[in-house]
Amino acid sequence: MNSNSPRASSKGIILILAFMLINLYGCRQLEIKKTGTADVSLYKKYESYFSVGAAVAPKHLSSVADILEFHFNRLAAENDMKFGPIHPAAGRYSFSNADAIANFARNNSMTMTGHTFVWHRQQPSWLFSGLSPGNTRDIETLKNQLKNHIETLVNRYDDVVDNWDVVNEAISDTGGKTYRDGSEGSEWYRIFQSEEYIYWAFKYSQDALAAKGSNAKLYYNDYNVTVPSKLNKILSMVQWLRSRGLRIDGIGLQGHWKLDWPTLSDIRSAINKISTAGLEVKISELDISIYTNDDWSTHAWEAEKAFTEQLETQQAVRYRELFMLFKANSGRITSVTFWGVSDDATWLDYHPKRRNDYPLLFDDRHKPKLAYYAITDF
Ligand code: XIL
Repeated sequence: MNSNSPRASSKGIILILAFMLINLYGCRQLEIKKTGTADVSLYKKYESYFSVGAAVAPKHLSSVADILEFHFNRLAAENDMKFGPIHPAAGRYSFSNADAIANFARNNSMTMTGHTFVWHRQQPSWLFSGLSPGNTRDIETLKNQLKNHIETLVNRYDDVVDNWDVVNEAISDTGGKTYRDGSEGSEWYRIFQSEEYIYWAFKYSQDALAAKGSNAKLYYNDYNVTVPSKLNKILSMVQWLRSRGLRIDGIGLQGHWKLDWPTLSDIRSAINKISTAGLEVKISELDISIYTNDDWSTHAWEAEKAFTEQLETQQAVRYRELFMLFKANSGRITSVTFWGVSDDATWLDYHPKRRNDYPLLFDDRHKPKLAYYAITDF
C-alpha cells in the first residue's frame, strides 16, 4: 500500500494522537507541584477507600504530632507492641510506650494495627531460655506464655486495635521449604520442631477476641508476598489453619518496596489471589526505597546516594501508580500503613546497612515531598 493512501494517513494521525496523549500524560505527571503546605488531609482523601496509617515510636507523638493528627487515621507501634519490648521479663510487661501510642490514637479517634504477637525477631531471651526442642513439657510452657501474652494485649488494647498481626514472617523464602525454621532464625519453630506454634497463636488470638466479644481481625503479615512461590506457601498455611477449624481474616503485604520493584502487575495479581481465597488485604508497612541495586544473594549493597530531584519525581510517580492501584482495589484493601512518617526517622537508614534513605511522604524537615502531592492530587 502506498504511504499516501487514506488508510496510511489515518494510521499516521492515530499514531500522532497517541503520541500527543502519552506526552500529555507525562507532562501531567511532571506537573505535580509542591505548594509548601500540605493542606489536603491524606486520610480524608482516602476515607471512602481505606484507612491510612503510620507506624510510630513515642517520640513521633510530639515531633510529628500535627502531621499524625491531620493526615492519618490509623497508627501502628513500630516496635513497642512486639514481644520483647512489651514483655521484657517473665510475668512483667512494659506497657508505657505502647500505652502512649494507644492513648494518642484514642484521643484522636484513630484505630490501631496490633503489631505483632509472634515474630522470630525482637523476642525476649527469657521466653526460650532453658527450653529444649521438641520437649513436650517445654512446649506446654511456651504455649502458656504465648496464651497469657496474647490475652493480656488483647484485653488492654482491644478498644483501639481493630486488627492484629498474629504471626509475622513465618514463611520461608527458600525453595522447597514452607516454614521458616530454626536455621532461619525462628526460635518458635526450633522449640516446637514444627509450624504448630502458628496454629496456637491463631487459636489463642481467636479465643481471646471471642471472650471479649471483639470484632478485631486476625492477620498474617509478611514481605515478598508478591512473589508467587511465597504467596502459594502463605495460602497453603491459610488452608491448613482453616482445615483445623481456625479463622484467619486477612494477609498483610508489608510493602517495603522500591522505585522499580515489585511491578504493578505482580502487586495486582497478589491482591487478586488473596482476595479470591476469601481474605482481606492490607498494605501494612509501606515505604519506597530509592536503592534499586542491592543484591540480597551476595549482600552487596548499593552505595549511599543523594536524593536528587529526579529521584524525587520518580518516587512521586511510583507512589501515584501504587495509590491508584490501591484505590482501584479498595473493595479488597482495608488499610494502607506507612512504615514511618518522615525521612529523618526511617528504619531503612539502618537496614540493610547504615545509609540514608528517603522512602516516606515527608522529608527530613517534615515538609511534604512530591510523593505527597502525587497521591493527594485527584
Ligand atoms: C523494624 C523497625 O522499623 C525497626 O525500628 C526495628 O529495629 C526492626 O524492626 N518487618 C516488620 C517490622 O514486620 O516489624 C520491622 O520493623 C520491619 C520489617
